[in-house]
Amino acid sequence: TRGGPLAGVRVTVTAGPTREPIDPVRVLSNRSSGRMGFAVAAAARAAGAEVRLIAGPVALPTPLGVTRIDVETAADMHAAVLAALPATDLFIASAAVADYRPAQTSDRKLKKTAESLSLSLERTPDILAEVSAHDPRPFCVGFAAETDHLLDNARTKLTAKQLDMIAANRVGHALGIEQPDNALEVLWADGAHSLPRAPKEQLARELVALIAERYRLQSKP
Ligand code: C5P
Repeated sequence: TRGGPLAGVRVTVTAGPTREPIDPVRVLSNRSSGRMGFAVAAAARAAGAEVRLIAGPVALPTPLGVTRIDVETAADMHAAVLAALPATDLFIASAAVADYRPAQTSDRKLKKTAESLSLSLERTPDILAEVSAHDPRPFCVGFAAETDHLLDNARTKLTAKQLDMIAANRVGHALGIEQPDNALEVLWADGAHSLPRAPKEQLARELVALIAERYRLQSKP
């Protein structure tokens, strides 16, 4: 049997962006590379966990020993996460899920006949908030990418979504999305820990070590 701080723990990780169709050829998406989530999945596996990685459209190799499920839209990711839920002890939501999707998807390619075009958007399901509200619930770890008021916004999300932990990163200053390096402020109800700027692979190992420590404290009080 495998050892490690997460030995025998069933971990589900979401990663990457989602892609919301406007018509058969056009999508709404974001700049998430998926690299942080893939690194977290690899680090959780290295820590002994049984890892399921639910990935949006990204061009990254599947970490060794990890079960990968590819999805496209927020709705697909939502369904895949719910299907995995009965076999999830620890949920790490690193995906940059689209917050809005086109309210209608056209079956045919839209023509550029009009001078301007308005898209009507609707909210997508908040996967993490839903998993966290589930009974029984897994240990829930969220991410918060913020340009401003990093710690305040992250702490607000920790409370609002009733998370066990949140990893906050600043975006927009050569850090975060689309960058090989990142830095994280990890928060939980009665504590915090800064992980200074490092390659995402190293940061993922440090984050998984922190998660394993908190997870074991709450599962074996
Ligand atoms: O509220 P916000 O989108 O900033 O929260 C970010 C956290 O929530 C991330 O962990 C992200 O993966 C998760 N999330 C989600 N489903 C959504 C939106 C965000 O799981 N629709």
